[in-house]
Amino acid sequence: MAVTRSVTKRFGILTAGGDCPGLNAAIRGVCRAAHDRYGMEIVGIANGFRGLIYEDTRTLKPHDFTGILTRGGTILGSSREKPFVAADKDEVASEKVSAIMETYSKLKLDCLVLLGGNGTNTTGYKFALEGLNVIGLPKTIDNDIVGTDRTFGFHSALAIGTEAIDRLHSTAQSHSRVIVIELMGHKAGWLALYAGVAGGGDVILLPEIPYDVREIGKHLEQRARTGKTFSIVVAAEGAMSIKEAEMDKKERKKYRNENGPSVAYRIAREIQEETGMETRATVLGYMQRGGIPSASDRVLATSLGTAAVELLAKGNYGRMVALSGNEIDSVDLSVPEGKVKNVPVNHYMIDSARAVGTCMGVE
Ligand code: F6P
Repeated sequence: MAVTRSVTKRFGILTAGGDCPGLNAAIRGVCRAAHDRYGMEIVGIANGFRGLIYEDTRTLKPHDFTGILTRGGTILGSSREKPFVAADKDEVASEKVSAIMETYSKLKLDCLVLLGGNGTNTTGYKFALEGLNVIGLPKTIDNDIVGTDRTFGFHSALAIGTEAIDRLHSTAQSHSRVIVIELMGHKAGWLALYAGVAGGGDVILLPEIPYDVREIGKHLEQRARTGKTFSIVVAAEGAMSIKEAEMDKKERKKYRNENGPSVAYRIAREIQEETGMETRATVLGYMQRGGIPSASDRVLATSLGTAAVELLAKGNYGRMVALSGNEIDSVDLSVPEGKVKNVPVNHYMIDSARAVGTCMGVE
């Protein structure tokens, strides 16, 4: 096969942070295009940045990245290793950074391709400042990365969250209960907002809109008066009451330790106390990150993966590939660095949810 000239001859690839559906599709996209179109050599790095610190790497050949498009998880393994942050007082972050820099040059890499969320792309930016060539891909079920319209993993998690809400309807109805379902999303409410709208949640609670349990109570009682004997409350894991929002970080941590760390259980108890309605809580948890990627995530992950290879071929480093409208583009790695993309409180979906009678936790 004719191979096109490329600035990058050899690169390392890793997946870091929480896994998500679509990681393997992205790895395949990167590796196939890099190998088939440009003949690049690929070094697979195990378990995120840990693989670079401890030199846990292997050359990837076509048999490694064939047949993985539909597989959940990551064939490379992942970890929450943050090389620029010391894990405890005895650890020296700079030693990990130097170990990574050494492994990079020892392996004779021209670039590092990082598949990760906010933390990983921020780490990528820091390594770019240290002089390494880096390209980032935006992955996470949370959809909270600044610089891209969507992250891969989000669509698959949304489908799982929506199905869970659908399923809760029948049991909530049978028992005339309020059921609170907690969805992931870290500090952003994208997953809860989308799944809540898709599943027809009666109340949707986002970190971006601190709630007042009295307003939730009024809404549920109004529903009951119109003959609706059950309700579904969709809560983002980062959702908080107005009272919690007014606390500083330390006070909030203490409050949560004393009142149960899971938001679903806290809210369920508050609702039951406020309304006297029988209320249950469900935490969907890691279910949202497991299993096969949706068709949409496969397409996005493949497109971002192959676009990353075009950047590699041109030597256009220090960038994160991104979805911008209907186009695949890229942004400087400084764009996502240290940020979280929250749901804007004037987002059209919030208005749309309210227009169909959904309570957003406040008047
Ligand atoms: O970032 C993805 C995510 O699943 C978040 O939604 C959640 O807050 C977090 O990871 C859970 O992290 P861990 O895998 O470390 O428990």
